[in-house]
Amino acid sequence: MTLSAATVTAIHAEVARYPSKKTALLPALKLAQKDRGWLSKETLGEVADLVGLPHSHAVELATFYAMLFTEPVAPVRVEFCIQLPCALAGAEAALDKAAKLLDVEMQGTHGTRHGHTKDHQIELHGTVECYGACHRAPMCRVGDDYVENLKTDDDLKKLVGDLKIRAQQAPGH
Ligand code: FES
Repeated sequence: MTLSAATVTAIHAEVARYPSKKTALLPALKLAQKDRGWLSKETLGEVADLVGLPHSHAVELATFYAMLFTEPVAPVRVEFCIQLPCALAGAEAALDKAAKLLDVEMQGTHGTRHGHTKDHQIELHGTVECYGACHRAPMCRVGDDYVENLKTDDDLKKLVGDLKIRAQQAPGH
């Protein structure tokens, strides 16, 4: 499966914007991921060709950068920051409540906690990567969006309602 024409055009625009091809690679990979959901070996090669770099550069960056996925992910991926400042504000409890509301069985411990809904449409993760929104903790990242101040049960119910809507609107649903 190849990238959409719109994504190819957007990647060309990124390449034209930067003096160095290497600088354009990360935004190009993000665009490709937005288009395809994750970065397969074929997609990485396609992006590298569009940017004009060896495939190995794209593979290296994709495996290094935590926000790029080289394995398939659910259409809705949710990452709760459970780094210390967020943990002190109740992030683990917020993650537990979201998991309960979505009937998700969590596995792993602390920064490796993860689970998914039975239909595989929504993934929950605990991460120790600070998103720079500690002052509005507890918070989570849904795709590129931040959902902050998840302090009450109502906040979490609203989050879960929004996640279900996103899952229904995901391509291929
Ligand atoms: S510690 Fe969670 S956003 Fe900074």
